[in-house]
Amino acid sequence: MRGIEGFEMVTNEVVAWRRYLHENPELGYALYNTANFVVEKLASFGINHIEAGIAETGIVALIHGELGDGPTIGLRADMDALPILEASGKPWASKISGKMHACGHDGHTAMLLGAAKYLAAHRNFKGAVALIFQPAEEDGRGGEKMVQEGIMERFEISKVFGLHNYPGLDIGKFSICSGPIQAGLDEFDIVIRGKGGHAATPHKNVDPIVIGGQVIVGLQALVSRNTDPQEALVISVTKMNAGNAYNIIPDQAEISGTVRTLSPSLRDFAEKAISEAARGIAGGFGAHVDFRYRRLEPVTINHEAETKLAVQAARGLVGTEAVNDRIKPGMGSEDFAYMLEARPGSYIFLGNGPTASVHNPEYDFNDEALPYGVGYWVNLVETELAA
Ligand code: NI
Repeated sequence: MRGIEGFEMVTNEVVAWRRYLHENPELGYALYNTANFVVEKLASFGINHIEAGIAETGIVALIHGELGDGPTIGLRADMDALPILEASGKPWASKISGKMHACGHDGHTAMLLGAAKYLAAHRNFKGAVALIFQPAEEDGRGGEKMVQEGIMERFEISKVFGLHNYPGLDIGKFSICSGPIQAGLDEFDIVIRGKGGHAATPHKNVDPIVIGGQVIVGLQALVSRNTDPQEALVISVTKMNAGNAYNIIPDQAEISGTVRTLSPSLRDFAEKAISEAARGIAGGFGAHVDFRYRRLEPVTINHEAETKLAVQAARGLVGTEAVNDRIKPGMGSEDFAYMLEARPGSYIFLGNGPTASVHNPEYDFNDEALPYGVGYWVNLVETELAA
């Protein structure tokens, strides 16, 4: 276990990689230049087991330790940017108008490359490390696709770890918790089919707009009256569409929204309860409901033993006080959740200092955080895979 002093020498090179990635953002699965850059760097570190083209532009590279046989642990970085016009004003700002690294995945990729270089040079561990570079975290479920393409089995990965920068948390600090750390994300569509007609003769119609209003109010009561107040569930209606004239009652109204929760069983509840409430309310007025519910991201759930290991690796780097191991979970979502469904593991937040928040046009990954991310990965490997 090394303190942060042990990693400061890697900084200059990792900063250059990070800024190159920042200047050249790519979206979703179309990470051709980014993936080439990553493969080129990995090869230059003397890593010869590199598999590219997983989930289109994802990469897994294996580094074997020199301390004997042992398990393989996975370290994951996401590589994709966002469709945002950058306003950071930095010299290394995006060269591609309308695309930017506004979530710090450029930093995540650079830090895992920094750790790869260090681990390949020292190999002071048993077993092996699988470096997982993932496309389409923001939109497209690249994490799920890599799991579906069999990376856990093919590379015999027994545990998997993730990391994300956290604006507002000081540089050199980490935060994490055992159990749910990021919310699950689902979406729903409710189509209320009534009977349209002249606005002056409501008694001859089944008005989907009035029924839709009742349905929206009814959904609000599900959280306040049907779920445990100690458990987090958000049901937000975010879209309504109906009608296009002053004097016509339309045939149908559409209501859409999102569900966020920290509990897998509350996702089951939400799907059933929203459907039943919408059908029940609309049925009472003589309308019919078509209902669709899509499960987009599972709850990100940190496993207990692996979270202890993550805390130990971070505390070895920055000291006990700088690692908060009881953070309150966030209601955002993260597709690393799919990897944590496939294998035990843990996901930690790394302080990004007082920067703009992620997904903001003024955001920039903080280069001062780079040695902490590299050091965390190396400590994690050398602790878990100690001889
Ligand atoms: Ni992100």
